[in-house]
Amino acid sequence: MEILDGKKVSNDIKNEITVAVQEMKANGEKVPHLAAVLVGDDGASLTYVGSKVKTCERIGFDSTLVRMPATTTEEELLEKVKELNENDDIDGFIVQLPLPPQIDTQKVLLAVNPDKDVDGFHPMNFGKMALNLPTFISATPFGILELLERYKVETSGKHTVVIGRSDIVGKPMSILMGRKGCPGDSTVTLTHSRTKNIESIIAQADIVISALGVPNFLKAEMVKEGAVIIDVGITRVPDETKKSGYSIVGDVDFAEVSKKASYITPVPGGVGPMTIAMLLKNTLLARKRHREVTGV
Ligand code: GUN
Repeated sequence: MEILDGKKVSNDIKNEITVAVQEMKANGEKVPHLAAVLVGDDGASLTYVGSKVKTCERIGFDSTLVRMPATTTEEELLEKVKELNENDDIDGFIVQLPLPPQIDTQKVLLAVNPDKDVDGFHPMNFGKMALNLPTFISATPFGILELLERYKVETSGKHTVVIGRSDIVGKPMSILMGRKGCPGDSTVTLTHSRTKNIESIIAQADIVISALGVPNFLKAEMVKEGAVIIDVGITRVPDETKKSGYSIVGDVDFAEVSKKASYITPVPGGVGPMTIAMLLKNTLLARKRHREVTGV
């Protein structure tokens, strides 16, 4: 069994991006600038966004954190998105999800300039992803592809079972694994809450990608010997032994499943750290494209 070490790989990627930024600086070029919009004060979102902004600073990107109150109206947020679209200094930006209930998320995501949509959430970028055209691939699916590629995990002709059909992970992941190419060329089954006999489907999987959000859902007896296990679950459960008061638990019963797996991602330290690295990679790409278009 080999651990797919997202912490290590994400550090490698961040180092690669740091070198690219240093080269940009040495050439007198503008460095990438990422902005993040956070509406409200949800603890988990605050942690994620804070970490994105801090990492930007560490690797030499410019970053801007835009905080708006939980009472922000849809119109106010759309106005902020318009402002960021028009701000030529910003190469890419994200609107952290989830948004408060008074705001229509799809309306906001549609308003983001697709050229600055480093989250890859705009329907135009999602469509390009599905058609295998150059675009921004969402950070979590992109991070999983990168892990599979760097560890040379064979995906061609394999049966990949994706658990969960969210717009951010399950749905794009099912498309990406079935695309022509490497990683890809898998035979994909997308399972969800209405799937019948889910256990018999998972038992046939060469690769399981679980994005369900149910702690310890996947047990050893459910998976095939030698399966590749990708755990996207990150559920906070109360834990008095931790300073933060909680620990992060994945969808996979790691202790038992790891004995049967050929490759497995731990939680924490697997898919999670990859997402920030891939967001930064997308932002670097946005800067390069922006430079090609504007010459600046
Ligand atoms: N909420 C959970 N994951 C993500 C993500 O990748 N991007 C944004 N914007 N919000 C999220």
